[in-house]
Amino acid sequence: MTEPVENDPAADLKRQVGVAAAALVEDGMVVGLGTGSTANYVIDSLGERWATGLRFVAIPSSERSAARAKALGIEIVGFGSHPVIDLNIDGADEIQRGTLNLIKGLGGALLREKIVAAASNRMVVVADESKLVQRLGEHAAVPVEVSPFGWESTARQLGEMGARVAPRHDRMGRLFVTDGGNMILDCALGQLEDPAATEVAIRAIVGVFECGLFIGRASLALVAGKTGVERYEVG
Ligand code: 5RP
Repeated sequence: MTEPVENDPAADLKRQVGVAAAALVEDGMVVGLGTGSTANYVIDSLGERWATGLRFVAIPSSERSAARAKALGIEIVGFGSHPVIDLNIDGADEIQRGTLNLIKGLGGALLREKIVAAASNRMVVVADESKLVQRLGEHAAVPVEVSPFGWESTARQLGEMGARVAPRHDRMGRLFVTDGGNMILDCALGQLEDPAATEVAIRAIVGVFECGLFIGRASLALVAGKTGVERYEVG
C-alpha cells in the first residue's frame, strides 16, 4: 500500500507533477482519476481548479479517489452515461524509459485502473523520478488481481511461470481486499525481457482478473525531479 504518505520525501515532486497534469484538463472533458499518493495531488489540484470555475466530469479508479474528488465538489459519473474517457491521469510504480510501459497496482486498484485506462483516449502518467526504470521489474513485483476462490491454485500456476508469489496483506495482517472484493498476489519476476508477453501469459491463467502490467497505454509521462517536471512521450 502506498498511502498514507506522511513525511513522504517525494511529496514536493508529486505535488509539482500533480499540478502540471491537472493543468491538462479542459472544460467539458471526461477525466479518469487515478489512485495513489501522486494521483491524490492531481485530484487536489483539480479541486482547486474546480473551485475557480473549471467544469468537467470524472470517473475515479477507486473508492478512495472517488471520496477525495467528491469532497472537493468534483462531479463523478459512470461508464453508463460516459463510456469514453478523454483524458486519464494516473500514477505508476515503474515507468519504462522509451516505451512508457508501466507496472501499477501497489495501491491495490489495478483492475479498475486498467478498465479506466482501456476506456481512455489518452493516458498521462504522473510520477517522481524514482519511478523511471530501464527494464520493468527492476524494483517492483507485478501485482496480479485474482479471485479469492481458488487463489492458492492461481498462485501455484503463477509460481510455475517463475514468479515468487506473495499474497498481499493489509496493515492489520489480513488478506488485502480490493474495491471489487478480490485479492492481490504480488509476483516477483525479476527484470522483464518481454513485458507484453508476460502480460499475456499472466492473463491466460484462470482465476486472474488483471495484472499490473500496462503495455502501450500511456502516451505521455510527466516526471518530476530536481530540475523540474520533464515530459516523456511515445507515439
Ligand atoms: C495504485 C497504483 C498507483 O498509481 C501506484 O501504486 C503509484 O502510487 P504512488 O503515486 O502512491 O507512488 O497503481 O494501484
